[in-house]
Amino acid sequence: MVIEKIELNHFRNYQHLSFEPHEGINLFFGKNGSGKTNLLEAIHYCALGKSHRVSQDAPVIFAGEKAGSCFVTVRSKLGRNEIGVRLQPGDAGGKCVLIDRKKVKKLSDMMGVLRCVIFSPEDLDLIKEGPAVRRRFLDMMISQISRGYFVALQQYRGAMEQRNAILRNSRLMNQAPDPMIEDFEAAMAEQADTIYRERKKIADMMGDEIPRIYQEISGRKDELFQIQYHGFLKRENEQIDAFKRMLRDCREDDQRLGMTSVGPHRDDLHLSLNRKSMKMFASQGQMRTAALSLKLVQLRILTKVSGESPVLLLDDVMSELDLNRRMNLLREIGDIQTFITFSDEGDLDPSQIYRTYAVSSSDGEACIQEIKSGPEVMKTILKEPDFT
Ligand SMILES: Nc1ncnc2c1ncn2[C@@H]1O[C@H](COP(=O)(O)OP(=O)(O)OP(=O)(O)O)[C@@H](O)[C@H]1O
Ligand SMILES: [Mg+2]
Repeated sequence: MVIEKIELNHFRNYQHLSFEPHEGINLFFGKNGSGKTNLLEAIHYCALGKSHRVSQDAPVIFAGEKAGSCFVTVRSKLGRNEIGVRLQPGDAGGKCVLIDRKKVKKLSDMMGVLRCVIFSPEDLDLIKEGPAVRRRFLDMMISQISRGYFVALQQYRGAMEQRNAILRNSRLMNQAPDPMIEDFEAAMAEQADTIYRERKKIADMMGDEIPRIYQEISGRKDELFQIQYHGFLKRENEQIDAFKRMLRDCREDDQRLGMTSVGPHRDDLHLSLNRKSMKMFASQGQMRTAALSLKLVQLRILTKVSGESPVLLLDDVMSELDLNRRMNLLREIGDIQTFITFSDEGDLDPSQIYRTYAVSSSDGEACIQEIKSGPEVMKTILKEPDFT
């Protein structure tokens, strides 16, 4: 799929922006704090209805304004669609997603219209941080190819919040939980089954591809990177009933904790290098390669399952890779529409960059200017960057 047009209004440090990116590799070059990541964040909003770096919507509205929006026009197997998000916190509308100027009823309706994979320096968290980061990675990835999965996640969370509320209330009142808890546990178990199956399927697909991808990037045949999904149930049959039993058995403990202690919201993806825990034993460089491999496998799977390439967003990752890895990454990208941000000097193959933009900001307002197209561009901008 290809983004034909991007339009931002009062989004982060963009007052108004409208431009038509190239179908190939677009390079955004600018000083720290100029607005490069903000642009990629806007694209992420149009794909998933939320930021990749903050959980709230309010910070992305241009400071001092009451509302903001980001829209893209996408060309894909579905045809040509305009999709975007309008943000107006405090208003009854809050956040609304529009496809071809019509408000969608549910957030799940937007999934799959624009698919994206974002690479950023924070990807290292996938290796270093706790299970929540890896679950979020899996969830965002699967939601882009399965609306049913996204709905199951939402319903599971909703039912779990109700269960937790009942448990906290019963603790407060010092009485047995409301019998309604059975219904919420049944709803959780049903959705947990969908969540488990989808995660397992995708994690297995990833597991098949990841050792080779890691070795291709690192060039080390003696390093085996493996991933394995660790779900909340040990056996795969009779999931729904088994999970309902687990929830019932945990009620007393959960009442004390005031939260649900078992279920897919505690799952993890285990990562190992040569059969040892990646997090505990791997070097910084190995972890970086592993994080990059996870993103590349995400790209491959989204392409395979949906039948078309997502849009690629590479935020400041080139400068972290040595030349070899950078070249391997560019080779993997091939002809996928890509948005690369760059703040450091570095050597990218100029013949692979189709269009280059300078991102600058003055008085807190960002602007993007196409500076020059064609293979000569990198030489020029690396020699005398001028963003004013
Ligand atoms: N809601 C907002 N309104 C106005 N300006 C904002 C808003 N949110 C962030 N900014 C500004 O956007 C700038 C950061 O933009 P961004 O993160 O895109 O920078 P960047 O070009 O990616 O920089 P770096 O190279 O350091 O990663 C900061 O100057 C910040 O003050
Ligand atoms: Mg940035």
